[in-house]
Parts: sequence; C-alpha cells; structure tokens
Amino acid sequence: MKRKDFLKITGTASTLMGLGGISWLVDAQTNSAVAGTVNRQEKIIEGAFTNPLYIIPDFDLKTEKEFKASPVKKEIIPNGKADVFGYHPEGLLGKSIVVNRGDNIDLHFTNETPIPTNVHWHGCIIPPDMDGFPSLKIKQGESYQYQFKLDQRAGTYWIHPHPDMLTGIGVAKGLAAFVIVEDDEEKSLKLPSGEHESRLVIQDKRLDKQGQLLYAPTDVETMTGYFGNYVLVNGTAHPYHTVKAGWHRFRLLNGSNARIYNLSLGGKTFYIIGSDGGLLTKPSEQKELLVAPGERVDILVDFTNDADKEYFIQNELFSGDDDQGKEIFKIMKVKVSKDAGYQYTLPQTLSVINKIPVPQATKTRTLDISNAKMDAMYAQMMAQEKKNMKMKKGKMKDMNGMEGMSGMEGMNMSNMNEGTTQQMGDNSSMQMGRTWNGMKMEHTINDIPYNDKVVNLTISRGTTEIWEFDNSKGDESHPMHVHGVQFQVVSRIGGRNALQPSEMGFKDTVLCMAGEKVSVIMKFETIPGKYILHCHNLEHEDSGMMWCYELV
Ligand code: C2O
Ligand code: CU
Ligand code: CU
Repeated sequence: MKRKDFLKITGTASTLMGLGGISWLVDAQTNSAVAGTVNRQEKIIEGAFTNPLYIIPDFDLKTEKEFKASPVKKEIIPNGKADVFGYHPEGLLGKSIVVNRGDNIDLHFTNETPIPTNVHWHGCIIPPDMDGFPSLKIKQGESYQYQFKLDQRAGTYWIHPHPDMLTGIGVAKGLAAFVIVEDDEEKSLKLPSGEHESRLVIQDKRLDKQGQLLYAPTDVETMTGYFGNYVLVNGTAHPYHTVKAGWHRFRLLNGSNARIYNLSLGGKTFYIIGSDGGLLTKPSEQKELLVAPGERVDILVDFTNDADKEYFIQNELFSGDDDQGKEIFKIMKVKVSKDAGYQYTLPQTLSVINKIPVPQATKTRTLDISNAKMDAMYAQMMAQEKKNMKMKKGKMKDMNGMEGMSGMEGMNMSNMNEGTTQQMGDNSSMQMGRTWNGMKMEHTINDIPYNDKVVNLTISRGTTEIWEFDNSKGDESHPMHVHGVQFQVVSRIGGRNALQPSEMGFKDTVLCMAGEKVSVIMKFETIPGKYILHCHNLEHEDSGMMWCYELV
C-alpha cells in the first residue's frame, strides 16, 4: 500500500479505530498532550541564533576505556529541562572517537538507560558481533565489550543504537557520536583541521513548550517518519559558530530520524570533498546539497574574503518527497571572524577510487522498497469500516478512495469477514503482523518485513553484487543503508535521474526518492556472519524496513 492511500484511510477511518495512541515506549513526562498534536508539517521554530555551538570533545582512547549510555536532564531550550540520553555526562550525543586507520578499538560499554540498546558503528566494516545486530539488546545495567580493529578508508563514520524496533527512540533521545578515521592519504592533503574544521551533527528534535523532548510516532508518523520542530546542531538549538577567515572544513552528519535536508550556505559556493566512505576523487563545486538521514558529507568553504561576514547553513526547498522539502529554514549561523586568513589551496585531486567494474557482479538483486503493509487486525478493521460506510449515504466517495487500495498487496478486502482474523488472500508475513509501537503499519522490502529469525539473503564472501533499490512505484523517500560494506552508486533511473556529486565515492547509505530506482555495486569481503540492510528513516526501520543478509 502506498503512503497516500494510508493517509486517505486514516483520514476517513481514524475516529472509528481510535488511532494515534501514545506509545508505551514514551516515559511519563514525554507522554504529554502535545505528543499527538504536533502536525507532521509543523513549522520549524527558528530563533535568534545566539547560542554558541557545542564543540564535541574527542574521546581520549589512551586513558578512557569506558563509555556509557546514560539518562541525563538537559536544557535544550530555555523553557525547561528535557529527559535525554547521552554517551557522555553532558547529555545528548557523545565524544568523538578519532582513530588512525588500523587502530584497535577496545571500549567497555554500559547501558544505564531504561531502554535496551547496543552500539552500531555506522559505515564501519567490523565483525558482526561488534556491529550492533538488532537482536542484541543490552539492558539497563548490562555491559558489552567493543573490541575490533578499524581498518578502512579515512572518513566520517558514527555510532548509534540499533536494537530491533528501538533504534528510533534511542537516536531521538540523543544517542549518537562521531567516529573519525584518519589515514596517510588524507593527511597528505593537509586539509583544514583543528580550528579550521568543524564537525556538525544536524538533528531535528520535537520539543514541547516546557522544553521536554518528545518521541511518540503516530501511525501517520510511522509512514512519514518522525519530524521535530527544532533543528539542533551538536545538540545546540539555534546555534552560531565563529570560524576564522580562510578555508574551513565542515564534516556534516545528518543524524535525524527521518528528515532530509537540502543544505546551502545561502547561495555561497562550497566544495564537496567527501561522503560516507571518505574522500571523493576530486572536489565538486556546489551551492546546495541533499543529505538524508545516516549520510555524511565533507565540504570545504573558502571564507578568505569574508572577514566579519555572516552566513547561515540553511535548508532549501526540494522535491521528490511528499512530506518533506516544503519549508526553508535556518539551521546555524556561521560568523567569520576578522582573524588572519588561513591560506589553503583547494587540491585538484583528492583520492584514488577504483570503480568496481559492473561485469564483476555475479548477481543483480532487485529490492522493491515501494510498499508498506497493514497488519491483519488493521485490515480487518478497515473491512469493518468499509461495511459501515456502505450503510451511510454520501460516503461513497471515501469508500471509492479506499476501494483503490484493496488488492494492492494481493489483499482482497471483500474476502474478509467480521470475526475472522487472518487469511489475507496472500501467504505473506502479513499474518504475523509485526507490531511496532502499537502501530498497525509495517514497512517492508519486497513485501517482507524484518523478522529476526529470518535470513533474507545469503551471499558468498568475496563476491560482487549489484542491488537495485526499486522505489519507482513508491511515494516516500528511503535512504537505504547496508552494513558491513561500502558500496558505489552505479545509476539512478527516474526521479532525479542522475548520480549526485556526493555519490561519486564510497557510500553506505543512498537516498532513493519517490520514483527512483537506484543501483549500487559492492564487494562483500568482510568476516562471515549476519549483517543488516535497512532504510535509515528510523521509523521505517523500526516498523520493519530491514533485512538480514548472511555472508558465508
Ligand atoms: Cu546508521 Cu543500520 O544504521
Ligand atoms: Cu549502519
Ligand atoms: Cu524508508
């Protein structure tokens, strides 16, 4: 079923079914009246941009051997304190883990929060038992040793929770941190660093009037993703950041649950130098840049002649998603100081990337990401509603609207009788009715939602495959992410119909907007075991848009 049809039926049938219940996951304070009433199209609340940007400190791997996920009270907006989680005592986010290629990580992790968690090293190619597999749920008071070698291209990676059905709330509550890998190739470029580099994690959060953080997706928000009314950078609402004149490097991470940003500097030119899996082959001059949840981009900006000027990192309009891209808003003020400029010459070439030859792929798999499903109970209620509506005059129009969706999933509504539960007319997992957050919706890949007992794909180690993420019939955007590998984007057909500048290097997350079929190629070389692929819209992920692949 398409999102549009779902919205149609929730619109017509919601009163009868009593939709929009508040989640059991939400603690008492967030369970406020506001939770259900924030509209998905609610405006971003802008401010004066007078709060200094929080500069995330680095983890000292020599002396610090532990990290924790802890509940913390934190004032995000002046109205009051929010109950958040953090990997460090200040709350929200965590220290950046900065390593050289080939370094060992050896960290003892403890969960102090009431929500089961684990640590996923997004973009890192590490053993499966280290990578936050969804069935690993580290409960409050429990620990886990994260111990592995990080040997891959220099780049901006990150950690966040990944337990099945609990990724969205963990990230929304504040659990996310940078993992930076450096290597000789990148060091030889002498890119702007230190005070000439900023690491920015951009996340929208929903806060109520008392400053409390909310996370309670309704059914509709399970379809669209959960959006916030404040956009934080490094956990700071309405931030400003002072940079020196001269060149500056911004490492950007979209750590939002569902929001895509079309970032700009208000028309000023910038140069994309890297993406998820590190440096591109050469810089790409741009004025706007679409960044989906989970994606990272590395850009350079020349502020040489900008002493005393101000710019805004802001969101521009974009198309390709029914719910997003309709609003322009500011995200962070960049003040350029009048200090002596930092001399730098933009390199012509950055890195060597060998294209994986398409004929090397021994398999092409098509993964249909166009559809979502209703569970059996919900479908039955729909059938009941349909009957009720038949009895009412003047409702035929609505009913016809609903008619349009029956059969879309091979689900024959006319076969359904009151009192029968299953038998949806197909033999799919619909009958199992994955219920996330009390929702009646599930997101799927090839019509199959995540099931932690199922291996969806088996792949031989050492082989190269092409995966086509087929959203050609869909009307939602899906940033598709694969664990245990960095891929290359081969083609995009439909929608934007072209590769994007930020897709010319290695990627682990690729945005598939409505109408697009995006092909990626990758070689599976890492340790055998079970890995995950999923949509990085975290409400989609939690409601089933995730598969397991096993490397054998
Ligand atoms: Cu950032 Cu599987 O996720
Ligand atoms: Cu990941
Ligand atoms: Cu999705």
